Amino acid sequence: MYYVLGLDIGTSGTKAILYSSVGDKMAESYQSYPLLNPKNGYAEQDAKLWYDATIYCIKNIVDMNIVSPDLIKGIGLSGQMHGLVMLDEKLTLLHNSIIWCDTRAEAECEYINSSMKDYADYTLNPAIAAFTLPSLLWVKNNLAEVYANIDKILLPKDYVNFMLTGNFTTDVSDASGTGMLDVGKRQWSNEILNHFDIDINWLPQVFESCEVVGDITNNIASLTGLTTDTVVVAGAGDQAAAGLGNGIIHDGEVSMSLGSSGVVFASLDKPNRDEKGRVQTFCHAMPNTWHVMGVTQSACLSLSWFKKNFAKDISYKELDRLAYGIALGSEGLLFLPYLQGERTPHLDNDIRASFIGLSITHKLGHLYRSVLEGVAFSMRDCITVIENIGVLIGDITVSGGGAKSDVWLSIISNITKKTLISRESAESGARGVAILACVGAGVYDDIISASTSFLNDNTTYNNPQQEDSAMADNLYLLYSQLYSLLKDNNRNLAKIR
Ligand code: XUL
Repeated sequence: MYYVLGLDIGTSGTKAILYSSVGDKMAESYQSYPLLNPKNGYAEQDAKLWYDATIYCIKNIVDMNIVSPDLIKGIGLSGQMHGLVMLDEKLTLLHNSIIWCDTRAEAECEYINSSMKDYADYTLNPAIAAFTLPSLLWVKNNLAEVYANIDKILLPKDYVNFMLTGNFTTDVSDASGTGMLDVGKRQWSNEILNHFDIDINWLPQVFESCEVVGDITNNIASLTGLTTDTVVVAGAGDQAAAGLGNGIIHDGEVSMSLGSSGVVFASLDKPNRDEKGRVQTFCHAMPNTWHVMGVTQSACLSLSWFKKNFAKDISYKELDRLAYGIALGSEGLLFLPYLQGERTPHLDNDIRASFIGLSITHKLGHLYRSVLEGVAFSMRDCITVIENIGVLIGDITVSGGGAKSDVWLSIISNITKKTLISRESAESGARGVAILACVGAGVYDDIISASTSFLNDNTTYNNPQQEDSAMADNLYLLYSQLYSLLKDNNRNLAKIR
């Protein structure tokens, strides 16, 4: 039996899982790090902490002595997408990474979308502030000295891959989220690079996700206890990795991930896009396939924001118990989960969150339940837009930290009116890249055979309750109207921020 490591370089922390080549989870390790918000709308992380966490987690697993290191044949990395990592000539980090939930580059997005009329014909998406290119142009416009010293640009997991192998690489799924890839052709777009005067030598080489990009270096082998025969595959952006780890590989199969952000993800045999740019179309982590996804900026982030500020000493389990005792609608309270602006369906960096309908009778449980419901309405928005572009959505496989809450899953099922399938193992991102690592290490010939062998865990179902159906529609209508009603007020408030 061989083994592989799947790592997920997330926003709250890095998780490493050791899998056997038939998908059994052997060991896991986790290390957290801070998210820095130096100003309203800014979100940064120190890339060095992703690397440190990676080394810590791998070493921790090797030290558990569960399997001999020479049987660990491959490593795959999944990562938070879009983040801008800049290195100078000496390969030193030039600045904190500006990450996916940073919204400072709004003016640069307007410039990109208006100055290059056919931009979205290449990227299949309009530029949005989360993408790497707008962040890069923001650095050009605001941190000239940093920009002048750039020698290489990497995405978060690709920076860690570089530290592991010494090679500058990326994969098609993550590169799609830079705003510089020709997503149809799965290669950097010379048209975009020329238009915005970006040196192609700054960019890493693009690979398909299951391709090997190098072996780990001697230094990494001695730091972690692995052998230098361990191959590293190109890996995938966290959403494509989670899709793969949930078995979403055939046209029209759909998953939902409840991580820091919330995503509804559909696999596509051909690129299909929303002309209004409300959902993103990217390359999937399987050759010759694509995916479309709707993104709620603050899914579990809404929950952690609420807990941190209003219920620090109360466990999520207890908060769930309080929410469970309250009926759908939170007794007339709605929450709009726009703590960091929104992507689907509104693409609006200025919009902010609200509780609407607060009353003297509402207690902590009502507020928490309305946060759970608010994110669920937002997931229904994602489903609606994807259905509008012609993807028929049946049952949905859920994963991510949020999928561990049965109360939340039943709320989401009732509000979206979809059957949700939960797999026993909710860590789909790490599993997706472990599947890729198995293919890269030659244990399987292709992703479909690796995936068939890996996805052997039990599944359970959450079905929508018929009796809640009309109430869910009523509430969704009210929820949907609130964005436009509050839009101007939020614009004015943004001037105060
Ligand atoms: C995807 C996205 C998020 C981040 C963090 O476009 O922005 O999923 O990758 O999870």
